[in-house]
Amino acid sequence: MINLQSPILLLLLLLTISTAFQISTSEEPATIYEVLRSNGLPMGLLPKGVTNFTIDDSGRFEVHLDQACNAKFEDELHYDLDVSGNLTYGQIGGLSGISAQDLFLWFPVKEIRVDIPSSGLIYFDVGVVSKQFSLASFETPRECLASSDQIITQTVSKNLSRKFGIERNDRREGLTAFL
Ligand SMILES: *[C@@H]1O[C@H](CO)[C@@H](O)[C@H](O)[C@H]1NC(C)=O
Ligand SMILES: *[C@@H]1O[C@H](CO)[C@@H](O)[C@H](O)[C@H]1NC(C)=O
Ligand SMILES: *[C@@H]1O[C@H](CO)[C@@H](O)[C@H](O)[C@H]1NC(C)=O
Repeated sequence: MINLQSPILLLLLLLTISTAFQISTSEEPATIYEVLRSNGLPMGLLPKGVTNFTIDDSGRFEVHLDQACNAKFEDELHYDLDVSGNLTYGQIGGLSGISAQDLFLWFPVKEIRVDIPSSGLIYFDVGVVSKQFSLASFETPRECLASSDQIITQTVSKNLSRKFGIERNDRREGLTAFL
């Protein structure tokens, strides 16, 4: 029979309880892909092989890649070394570090969201306009190939976003004129 008067037994019991408690309360998602999925977003939004990331209780996350890289979807996406944003259910706001190619130009993606319930579409807000893609194409994380051109493209695209931000409706004409 267990004698709880015994200080050693009592200590062991307390240790067991506190260990069990810690395990059950500090159960964090093991990967950023699970974090995305548990927020209703497709895992393929981030390239393959991401292990270095942080996320706080507010949903603010930072992801650190081994290299800046490009991945091919319907459009090509560029990932900076550091990607960050605010994650809420079905949405990433205040995004930084991802650019999308359109008409041979790069636009920083500011927000990504899906419909709830899902419509099978995913929306990328690139400042100038919102682009929609098939959700299915983002289901699996893609290979991401090294690229070193992000500094130039970021600057160009920031300038273009500013330039065309006010010409929402005739963007294509605007770009053609610019080229
Ligand atoms: C994660 O990324 C940060 C920022 O680039 C870096 O300082 C840190 O060493 C990385 N940690 C690991 C485990 O790679
Ligand atoms: C993202 O979250 C941080 C911290 O919660 C906040 O300061 C910032 O304004 C948010 N940014 C956007 C664009 O929502
Ligand atoms: C972007 O605009 C700034 C001024 O607004 C200019 O100094 C810079 O050269 C431009 N960069 C590119 C790549 O066009």
